[in-house]
Amino acid sequence: MSFRIQPTPAARPNRCQLFGPGSNPKLFAKMAASDADVVNLDLEDSVAPSDKDAARANVIAALRDVDWARKVVSVRINALDTPFWYRDVVEILEADTGRLDQIMIPKVGCGEDVYAVDALVSAVEAAKGRERRIGLEVIIESAAGIAHVEAIAAASDRLVAMSLGAADFAASMGMQTTGIGGTQADYYMLHEGQRHWSDPWHWAQTAIVAACRTHGLLPVDGPFGDFSDDEGFRAQARRSAVLGMVGKWAIHPKQIALCNEVFTPSEAAVAEARGILEAMEAAKAAGQGAATYKGRLVDIASIKQAEVVVRQSEMIAGAA
Ligand code: COA
Ligand code: MG
Repeated sequence: MSFRIQPTPAARPNRCQLFGPGSNPKLFAKMAASDADVVNLDLEDSVAPSDKDAARANVIAALRDVDWARKVVSVRINALDTPFWYRDVVEILEADTGRLDQIMIPKVGCGEDVYAVDALVSAVEAAKGRERRIGLEVIIESAAGIAHVEAIAAASDRLVAMSLGAADFAASMGMQTTGIGGTQADYYMLHEGQRHWSDPWHWAQTAIVAACRTHGLLPVDGPFGDFSDDEGFRAQARRSAVLGMVGKWAIHPKQIALCNEVFTPSEAAVAEARGILEAMEAAKAAGQGAATYKGRLVDIASIKQAEVVVRQSEMIAGAA
């Protein structure tokens, strides 16, 4: 291990981030009553430019009036290349009486984007004498975002989470697809005449996970657009979980249970992890650094792997 210890991200479930347009206040009570760990009230791309002011007012009222219970409440502001974002930050934070947990910054392209929002948030917080600090989360959804992902993850101690936004990412990269995540028909390897589909999102996801783990942020997979395709969602979410992501967005209530299913370690996975830990305890007592568990090698690295699963399971159970 490096002399610099890997920081631990926020110990809270982040299995599902449920989005709803700020321009559709009818959804807010349903979002609050849902099983999502995080709710994201959107002022950005699900809101038409002509609705921006009304959406902001809706979100301000919702922060005041809706009972969000123990949910993490986040507002997605407009991107820094729009005329809207500074008023999003200032008006929302000035009106909020302390319920807001996080601000989500979309289309982040460099660490300075985060710095700019941090500076504005800090000024409003100080002016209002706000005691609980607002956290920040960002979306990596552009070529610049992925190119500068590590600097972005390091840009502010307010940062809590980072998501991959597949659709804008694909557009910015010039990818030949209109799908929001998932398998892409033309992304395959050909072997002896057979097509084997590969995962075009994989490298961006791993870059995000590495940046997040280096700087103590929660890595999150973004939207899966086809909310009629449960198995497609599961497949995408399972790959994300294996890569180290802790949750995924839901853009429709159908996707909430799928998120919770995939990102809550299964009983079988937890039992397996506990079995490995017990085998390693026995090995340690016998003065050995490695052991055999169900016919395969486990060693000190296996303890850390097993602990990830057990810790995640206990943290989720503890927050329930
Ligand atoms: N949160 C909570 N409840 C939601 C919801 C959401 N995001 N989206 C839909 N619902 C509710 C509907 O109100 C409806 O409730 P009802 O049974 O009480 O009438 C139920 O779930 C079924 O909805 P459905 O009719 O299938 O969908 P819709 O046509 O009303 O809405 C979308 C479809 C995609 C427009 C809507 O889900 C949506 O706005 N999603 C979020 C989009 C977003 O925020 N994008 C930005 C991030 S990418
Ligand atoms: Mg986007």
